[in-house]
Amino acid sequence: MNVRQLSWENFRNLSTGTLEPCEEVNVIHGQNAQGKTNLLEAMWLFTGERSFRGAKDAELVYRGEHSAKLNLKFFSEGRNQTAQITVADGRRSAQINGVPKKACSALIGKFCAVVFSPEHLSLIRGGPALRRDFIDSALCQIKPGYAALQTGYNRTLFQRNALLKDIPHHAELLDTLSIWDERLCQFGERITRQRTAYLSALSEPAARFYSGISSNKETLSFAYLNSAENLRQALSDHRREDVLNGYTGVGPHRDDVVISVNGFNARAYASQGQKRSAVLALKLAEAELFCQMNGEKPVVFLDDVMSELDDQRQDYLLNHLTEFQVFLTCCDPGAARLMKSGALFHVEHGVVSARQPL
Ligand SMILES: Nc1ncnc2c1ncn2[C@@H]1O[C@H](COP(=O)(O)OP(=O)(O)OP(=O)(O)O)[C@@H](O)[C@H]1O
Ligand SMILES: [Mg+2]
Repeated sequence: MNVRQLSWENFRNLSTGTLEPCEEVNVIHGQNAQGKTNLLEAMWLFTGERSFRGAKDAELVYRGEHSAKLNLKFFSEGRNQTAQITVADGRRSAQINGVPKKACSALIGKFCAVVFSPEHLSLIRGGPALRRDFIDSALCQIKPGYAALQTGYNRTLFQRNALLKDIPHHAELLDTLSIWDERLCQFGERITRQRTAYLSALSEPAARFYSGISSNKETLSFAYLNSAENLRQALSDHRREDVLNGYTGVGPHRDDVVISVNGFNARAYASQGQKRSAVLALKLAEAELFCQMNGEKPVVFLDDVMSELDDQRQDYLLNHLTEFQVFLTCCDPGAARLMKSGALFHVEHGVVSARQPL
């Protein structure tokens, strides 16, 4: 899958313009606050997902204007396709190949991408919820029933927690707890099984990408950290504690993933460059697994990835990700000096240049 052309009208600080990228690496450079991330965000929205910056739709429209328009020409499933997104009155609407869609989510699965932005470093630096979300959202994309499974689990958990809070006032309710325990186990065990299967599938490509980024000098590995080996048993063992807390203390909602570099927990020990490399490897592995499932290689957006990476690691991103179309933003055009082939674009005050010579 690749982007053939993007054009825009009043999208954030990009007034009007067109980008015609190459199929390999596209480096977009420019000073701070010129519109580089805006350009990636514009393309990302065609995945049908929320902005990777968590922006509200109204914020996407050039301040003082009424609507924004984006047009994408892309190649997927062996043919040229088009998609259009309009943001007006604080809402997004979409067309795909000329057919209007009620919601932008109709684009999901048509144009696919993975994105790295510096905020994603929280995958390593932040708490377990972010790591669970990473796996869950990847599973939602590739396993059709997974979203429903999650909804079922969360609803049951909510009801069990409500009951736990009621029990101190109504002791007779204690007997009904086992119904919720059973239901929670049924959803929970399936979630854990799917997550561990996904993680073990992710391990090989992630380790390979990490090894590439680090010139074979370092290793990356993961382990799924179960809050309970046997959920049924653990729920019954923790019953007293759960009633006291009014909250369910074990289950997939308390699990974590330990990400290790050279065998040590990256959260505690990895350097800035290693953390960045680890998140990149995870994102690229996610792209590869997606491709194995769908037969299409997602587009890779790397926002501001170059800082904190040494020349060898930069060289890897610029010259060795040949299987993907890559968009990479940076401030320093010098970062592209290592690039052997690919395209270079400059962004200034929301104006994107034509392709520049390397
Ligand atoms: N809705 C909007 N209307 C007009 N301008 C906007 C809007 N949203 C954001 N901007 C402007 O866009 C600019 C930021 O663009 P962007 O985040 O793409 O910068 P960048 O080139 O990625 O910079 P950096 O290198 O700092 O990451 C800012 O000047 C911001 O004020
Ligand atoms: Mg930026």
